Amino acid sequence: MSTHSKIHPVQHAGEPLSNEIRRRLLVVEPHSIRTFTPSSAVLGKSAGSYHWTPEGRKLADFTSGVLVMNLGHNPTRWWQRVLAYMGLEKVNGAGDFFESVSLNAYNAITEIETVCCERLVQLLQAQPGGARCEQVLWAASGSEAIQKALWAAMDRRQGQDVILSTRHGFHGKKGLSNAVTGSENDKERDHRVRFIAFPREECISVERRREPLDLAPYEAELEQLWRELGSRICCLITEPYLGGGGSFHPQKEYIQLLERFCRRHDILFILDEVQANFGRTGSLFAFSEYGVEPDLVVLGKGLGNGVAVSAVVGRTEVFSKMHYGEASDTWSANPLASAAVLATLDEYAEHDVIGHAKKLSQVLEEGLLQLKDSGAVAHVRGEGVVWGLECAAVGSTPADAVARACVEACYLGNSKGEAVHLLGPLAGKVIRVSPPLVMPLEEARQYLAVMLECFSAVAKKLA
Ligand SMILES: Cc1ncc(COP(=O)(O)O)c(C=O)c1O
Repeated sequence: MSTHSKIHPVQHAGEPLSNEIRRRLLVVEPHSIRTFTPSSAVLGKSAGSYHWTPEGRKLADFTSGVLVMNLGHNPTRWWQRVLAYMGLEKVNGAGDFFESVSLNAYNAITEIETVCCERLVQLLQAQPGGARCEQVLWAASGSEAIQKALWAAMDRRQGQDVILSTRHGFHGKKGLSNAVTGSENDKERDHRVRFIAFPREECISVERRREPLDLAPYEAELEQLWRELGSRICCLITEPYLGGGGSFHPQKEYIQLLERFCRRHDILFILDEVQANFGRTGSLFAFSEYGVEPDLVVLGKGLGNGVAVSAVVGRTEVFSKMHYGEASDTWSANPLASAAVLATLDEYAEHDVIGHAKKLSQVLEEGLLQLKDSGAVAHVRGEGVVWGLECAAVGSTPADAVARACVEACYLGNSKGEAVHLLGPLAGKVIRVSPPLVMPLEEARQYLAVMLECFSAVAKKLA
């Protein structure tokens, strides 16, 4: 017989409306849909890089949803374009229905989907390292796109049934995306997946990452696997940096080593950019930043700036072995997703989003390194507009409890009512910092100072 403990809703003093919503939701929705976050913020409305609670309290957003709203929340130009692509820019419906693109075109084709594929391929091929991006295989979530990328790789040649995956990564929770996540020690393993080392200690801080990495042990492990498994290996999948695994950004030569190994043995090199894409690492795509050319690149999150869409982009030759229907489903390539992707591509094409992101990156690095003065932060690591703060133990309080206390303190804010919305800690004790790429620099400085104030108060209380 299973036993389950009762989950109590998070409640915060002075938040009657939010508390009531938190209580009601737990009755009608299982808590498993949510990643536990000590703040459990209830979001009433959002604009730019701010949220407002139902009580009207303003929160600076240092999460972008979960690295999704790179262009900020509800950008006017972006929404206008989405509506225009859908044919809804003018209220044109006489009677009960608008005449516009259908929301679902399963077993049919729309021009908007065609244009969207063409534009995405064109954009990717124009980037350093994007030459192999020839076709777009759509999906509706990151994990589904990972699953489709792995299916394509496994279908390529008979007898190739082994997937290499870098240890401690996060690629999703469903099916094959879950099988390539984590490590061999986590759970009952899929026998087709073999894990390989990914540097962590060697890039534990932004300073440490600047030191060269000894590639010899990584190279030796790969060649040993080749001797053992040989041409049974169909692909190698990695993230440019460990996102959900605790924010470890490796030296670039490590990712380049993986690519070289794949080339030498005709193994498909799959780069999971679900989190990194559209500017997080300081380039439009991480493959350019890291100097590699993936056979298949997996996109998601920022691709639709909030509309659920993901994609695998890669070589026609690889996709050509799949059968009709093998990768189809209800939502993939739906017109609303295409409209959102096109509006997103327009924004990056017409505005210097990446230029601003690079400036924001410097402000973040400087401000986050100062957080070490609070006593609550042991290591700061990251790049571009995606950073991790590894918390320190304070007194007898372990680092993961310190991390949770800091997230909550930032949510509750300082005496001036300035507050910061953060994700729940990753890998126990790492706080992710990933504001929208468009956050104004002054705003970032202001709220980094708020974080320092809140983190310092936590450390002082626990010392
Ligand atoms: C690198 C990476 N891959 C895949 C996924 C899975 O994406 P989704 O949650 O949309 O299934 C995530 C989600 O955080 C991710 O960070």
